[in-house]
Amino acid sequence: MGKKTVLTGITTTGIPHIGNYLGAIKPAIDASCNPEYNSYFFLADYHALIKCQEPQRVAESTRAIAATWLALGLDTDKATFYRQTDIPEIQELTWILTCQTSKGLMNRAHAYKAAVDANREAGKDDLDDGVTMGLFNYPVLMAADILMFNADIIPVGKDQIQHIEMARDIAGRFNHQFGSLLTLPEAQVDEETQLIPGLDGRKMSKSYDNTLPLFSSPDELYRLIKLIKTDSRAPGEPKDPDTSTLFQLYRCFANESETAQMRRAFENGIAWGDAKKQLFEYLDATLSGPRQRYHELMNDLGYVESILHKGAEKARAQAAPLLSQVRIAVGIRPLTYVAPSAADSAQKKEKSAEALERAEAGRKRAILLQLQPLLDQVAAAEDPAAAARVLVAEKAAEMESLKKKARQKAENELELLQEALVEWL
Ligand code: TRP
Repeated sequence: MGKKTVLTGITTTGIPHIGNYLGAIKPAIDASCNPEYNSYFFLADYHALIKCQEPQRVAESTRAIAATWLALGLDTDKATFYRQTDIPEIQELTWILTCQTSKGLMNRAHAYKAAVDANREAGKDDLDDGVTMGLFNYPVLMAADILMFNADIIPVGKDQIQHIEMARDIAGRFNHQFGSLLTLPEAQVDEETQLIPGLDGRKMSKSYDNTLPLFSSPDELYRLIKLIKTDSRAPGEPKDPDTSTLFQLYRCFANESETAQMRRAFENGIAWGDAKKQLFEYLDATLSGPRQRYHELMNDLGYVESILHKGAEKARAQAAPLLSQVRIAVGIRPLTYVAPSAADSAQKKEKSAEALERAEAGRKRAILLQLQPLLDQVAAAEDPAAAARVLVAEKAAEMESLKKKARQKAENELELLQEALVEWL
């Protein structure tokens, strides 16, 4: 079995927070160290344009996400790390797949349906109000991202599972129509890393405005940690670690024995202020190295750009040959193109003509072997010509009296006899 390909994209509309780090970036970087996988990670900046019409924000997020992945130690010699818009093949594949995707499938996409539902609830006449073609086609672009690299495994959040299933559908339809060129991908959802709580205890998410940015300054980090929701239990009162956001966050970073120790501290009534301080100190210590590297990279964007270019070259070296196959499969071909499959089958035909001839010769030899005693009789006869004529006449008469199948057999024999006795006839 060859290596499996893991691929995931990060939409460039925000600044990475701790939830992104624990839920997506860290597991991806860890997986990229596993020699059993080829990994592809990319900045999904075409996707950003769907959600965000603020150019500054898209540009800044692209910088920040690129620098974050590098600062956290992504080895770009192992993983292929690129920017979606640097791979023109993805757009071309998007169009080809768009032509294979039924509109009905897209009507069922969650993001589009949510927009329609919101319009319905707002009592709007036009249910598609505010829906761009980008939003509507979003799953096709995502399918192209994935199928372009024959990716097998797509680590994503739960909200993206439907998109991976649509990519499978689209690939299946393409393969059925044009031949099996595309790999059917599978979503991989890690339940545990989906549960990173934010400042208010709900899932950490930009849309809840409850995030801890990954590389904020120590002061800012501490200020935010102090905002984490706690209950009114006083210092000394036992606290339940399992319902505490502070404890859950601590646990995501700490090792087992540190976690066990913190659990005891909770049960022994640690003051909320102290728990916050400990969480801050732990996070600050863990993140200070990457944070420094991040700021260095943000001040050396030419270098980050060059890394992305190298990644794009690697990615395009994979994408281009597959795209050529796809183009040819759908009929986009140079005018002079001769389908190798047609040439192949002509060759096969030639071969099979030769094989047929050989089989035919074999068959003749077998029949003749059976007829040999008769031929010998003719050869030994006083008047071989007369004997030959008699033999042939007898065979002809026999043939006439036979039913179809047997008759065919006799006919073959007659033919061969005539051939073999031609000198006498
Ligand atoms: N749509 C994904 C998200 O918002 C990002 C994304 C774009 C992606 N293309 C992808 C994820 C391909 C996995 C594979 O999270």
